[in-house]
Amino acid sequence: MKKIIIEGRKKISGTIKISGAKNSIVALIPATVLTNGKCVIKNVPDITDVKTLLEIMKDLGSVITFENDTLTIDNKNLQNKLIDEKHASKLRASYYFMGSLIGKYHKVSIAYPGGCVIGSRPIDIHIDAFKKMGIDIIENGSIFDMSVDELNGIQIYLNFPSVGATINIMLASVLAKGTTVIENAAKEPEISNIASFLNSMGARVFGAGTSRIVIEGVESLGDGFVETIPDRIETGTYVIIGALLGNNLRVENVIPTHIEALLYKLKEAGVKYSLDGNSIVVSATENLKPINVKTSVYPGFPTDLGQPISTFLTQCNGECLFEETIYENRLRHVPHLNAMGANVKAFDNRAIITGKTPLHGRKVKATDLRAGASMLVAGLIADGVTEIQNIEHLLRGYERIVDKLSQVGVNIKLIDE
Ligand code: EPZ
Repeated sequence: MKKIIIEGRKKISGTIKISGAKNSIVALIPATVLTNGKCVIKNVPDITDVKTLLEIMKDLGSVITFENDTLTIDNKNLQNKLIDEKHASKLRASYYFMGSLIGKYHKVSIAYPGGCVIGSRPIDIHIDAFKKMGIDIIENGSIFDMSVDELNGIQIYLNFPSVGATINIMLASVLAKGTTVIENAAKEPEISNIASFLNSMGARVFGAGTSRIVIEGVESLGDGFVETIPDRIETGTYVIIGALLGNNLRVENVIPTHIEALLYKLKEAGVKYSLDGNSIVVSATENLKPINVKTSVYPGFPTDLGQPISTFLTQCNGECLFEETIYENRLRHVPHLNAMGANVKAFDNRAIITGKTPLHGRKVKATDLRAGASMLVAGLIADGVTEIQNIEHLLRGYERIVDKLSQVGVNIKLIDE
């Protein structure tokens, strides 16, 4: 089991460079299945979710090199075979092999996806869309056997603007006959990143980033090239840390508009930051004002920053209201925060956070990826030493976290025991 040991309350300054977005790269890699051409993907984060997906790709016969954050992937000898539970259950994003393999081969056998225990994580919106495309789906235990003779474009309205379902429908549609229209599509920046990758291969995807995406099916695809966008959740996590401990902390390689909702909320709390090219410079602010945070779909406040911001709210002077609206079980970090001295009263997906409460270092657990981030922020501001166990969760979505924080003055180490 891996754990992180942090000595808290160190002022941090210097530069943290943001890596490529986890929630883009986990779709970009499966998307390469759609072409026989060669794909080059730049700014790839070296995180465990990438390692897991590359294992699946190599198992299918993909030829891959990964050097200096650049992936080259050659799938001309790919075999379409079962993606078993051992691999598929390691991450939610394994379901993108449904859209890409069915889009390319009209057939796929894959086990049910994994993912953080932040809710039931159904895939009914994906399945409903695939069925509307005429795909036969047979569930054999945890395996989905999917097949279709001819894949035709569809007009579909998503009951919820699901990120995963929007991307999966795009992947299944780019080689379909005719046109697919997705109404009420998700608008997260990662969707546009995937669309530009598909279009670089010769696909015809229009309107990504808006709630209406049109995909005109094409016969085949060629070589692909894309740069993974900066990870907006990693960016937000480090900006929050800078707002609590920074001394002109520079968070570099960011797209500020991707975290506009967070920046607005931090400004409302009295945080001073400045934009300098593709960097955000942020410093700790005394006397933080209480604010209310409610997560929602993009461009609203991102659910993935809900747990990290809840630690920030413990340092505001007064009562803050927090509400998570996307997942049904994303407050599992609250007992660990309270054990460190916070005053958080949680009711279902809402919490009343009363600050300012000094936090004290102790042994805590990361219950899921972003809960781990919340614990990390807490350990950095707590007095004394904090030990965060089950840190594997955190390493799924934050590249080189120990290096990046050590370089700006944090006393942090990773122990593998
Ligand atoms: C993506 O998950 C991200 N994961 C999540 O990040 C992120 O929180 C989420 O989008 C929202 O932004 C990846 O991209 C790998 P959804 P996804 O489909 O695609 C329900 C992180 O920490 N739903 O928009 O699963 C679902 O249960 C992770 O990096 C259905 O009910 O998100 C959830 O309540 C966590 N049926 C809500 O919609 C479905 O078929 C949002 O899901 C699909 C989703």
